[in-house]
Amino acid sequence: MVNRLALFSLFVVFFFLFHGSPALAQPAAAPAPSGPDNITKILEKAGQYTVLLKLMKSTAVGDQINTQLNNSNNGLTVFAPTDNAFSGLQPGTLNSLSNEQQVELIQFHVIPTFLSTGQFQTVSNPLRTQAGGSGSYEYPMNVTTSGNQVNISTGVSNATVDNTIFSDGQLAVYQVDQVLLPMSIFGSKPPAPAPAPEKSKKKKAASTDADSPTADSSSGAAKSRSRYWWPAMVGTMVLMGWKICL
Ligand SMILES: *[C@@H]1O[C@H](CO)[C@@H](O)[C@H](O)[C@H]1NC(C)=O
Ligand SMILES: *[C@@H]1O[C@H](CO)[C@@H](O)[C@H](O)[C@H]1NC(C)=O
Ligand SMILES: *[C@@H]1O[C@H](CO)[C@@H](O)[C@H](O)[C@H]1NC(C)=O
Ligand SMILES: *[C@@H]1O[C@H](CO)[C@@H](O)[C@H](O)[C@H]1NC(C)=O
Ligand SMILES: *[C@@H]1O[C@H](CO)[C@@H](O)[C@H](O)[C@H]1NC(C)=O
Repeated sequence: MVNRLALFSLFVVFFFLFHGSPALAQPAAAPAPSGPDNITKILEKAGQYTVLLKLMKSTAVGDQINTQLNNSNNGLTVFAPTDNAFSGLQPGTLNSLSNEQQVELIQFHVIPTFLSTGQFQTVSNPLRTQAGGSGSYEYPMNVTTSGNQVNISTGVSNATVDNTIFSDGQLAVYQVDQVLLPMSIFGSKPPAPAPAPEKSKKKKAASTDADSPTADSSSGAAKSRSRYWWPAMVGTMVLMGWKICL
């Protein structure tokens, strides 16, 4: 009886050691057939998102999204303005933005939870986006719905959700007909006249954001924590098995 229990607990320990632990498992053991969702691949496949893809690459928000998708359980929602939507902007709008503002602009199109089309009906305004740090409402975004129609208002631009590009319960990507311009960057000054370059340069200096590095380091910390968690678990099980044997 004791021997059987000992064998069983050893089996449990070895099972977790070699199969259950993501931190200890050999990478070669899991070929990952399709892998996690990849926003770049999805938008490339959908076509008509070349400007958005370019911005996601230059701001590294695309990589950020893919990393988050691989690490988070809440999922993500991305509003994807078409190339047509970007051509609707005043000429020079994107060039007038600093690098930080371009990052904020693209992060503003990302909601840190998965939202199905049905969930838009019940979501509470304003929505929290990836822009402006967690819990910041400097970047308001409101959703209004009527039947299946979903509109988004930022106080600067009004957009309509035209189409579901992708949705798998983890990532939702929706086509929008306007670039969502955040109030904090485009607010107060009317969007019609091109902004004076001197003024926007001063704004660049004022906005000091180091969002992406902090986000990266915090996810790194989470990873190393989970690395310690598994050996601790296995150790506990060994102790439990040993106690049962006694
Ligand atoms: C995502 O897809 C793009 C293009 O298809 C590819 O270049 C990139 O390596 C992929 N990224 C990941 C994290 O798989
Ligand atoms: C996803 O995360 C796992 C474990 O953290 C890592 O080994 C893998 O390379 C990541 N995959 C991508 C596509 O980032
Ligand atoms: C959404 O926007 C369209 C076009 O601007 C408008 O006709 C429609 O009434 C709006 N619907 C809702 C629910 O706000
Ligand atoms: C968004 O909704 C909130 C709460 O309903 C409201 O106070 C705010 O004025 C709205 N903002 C925009 C830009 O529609
Ligand atoms: C957005 O919609 C609101 C309310 O319908 C309207 O007052 C505002 O002028 C619209 N803004 C733009 C830029 O179309």
